[in-house]
Amino acid sequence: MSSKEIKFVTPDASYGMAVNQLVASCPPLDTNSAYCNLLQASHFRETSVAACLDSGEVVGFVSGYLIPERPDTLFVWQVAVSEKARGQGLAKRMILSLLERPSCSHVHHIETSITASNNGSWALFRRLASQLDASLNESVMFDQHAHFNGQHDTEHLVRIGPFSL
Ligand SMILES: CC(C)(COP(=O)(O)OP(=O)(O)OC[C@H]1O[C@@H](n2cnc3c(N)ncnc32)[C@H](O)[C@@H]1OP(=O)(O)O)[C@@H](O)C(=O)NCCC(=O)NCCS
Repeated sequence: MSSKEIKFVTPDASYGMAVNQLVASCPPLDTNSAYCNLLQASHFRETSVAACLDSGEVVGFVSGYLIPERPDTLFVWQVAVSEKARGQGLAKRMILSLLERPSCSHVHHIETSITASNNGSWALFRRLASQLDASLNESVMFDQHAHFNGQHDTEHLVRIGPFSL
């Protein structure tokens, strides 16, 4: 599959179930309720992007939102790329495409959270920071014990910026 066959789409609710299945097929992502993905694809559509084949199959999705108290910061909630579409810069290009939207015209920082063992995600956001020529800072966002009651690995906050496109 070449990147030419993939188009980026602002989702709507009709994408919710396809996104739900894509996320479920992309461990170690936490699986979502269908309702969660429907909200991502509707209320958060202006800061989310779907990558689709000509056939309509959704092979990538980034959900995000502007942090309510800090609307200059895009929080990247989940990034999912189906196995067959990995390794061609799709995840990175989807996030960069969000930054080019009018809805992100005031965005100068990206935040996300990553577990220590998710090498792909660390590589993606480090690459993104270097492409944006911005620094990357890490801290604990949600702690395994203090926040997850021991039932989930610690989520590390990654903050990239400031940058301007
Ligand atoms: C992580 C994931 C989104 C990457 O998607 P992708 O489209 O293949 O990523 P990209 O091609 O845009 O990669 C961006 C950079 O990260 C690197 N990278 C991506 N996955 C990597 C991996 N598993 N190990 C090491 N480096 C990796 C790429 O080499 C690239 O760096 P480069 O430009 O210097 O070559 C995809 O593997 C996935 O969906 N994984 C399962 C779900 C998940 O962990 N999501 C991330 C949580 S937010």
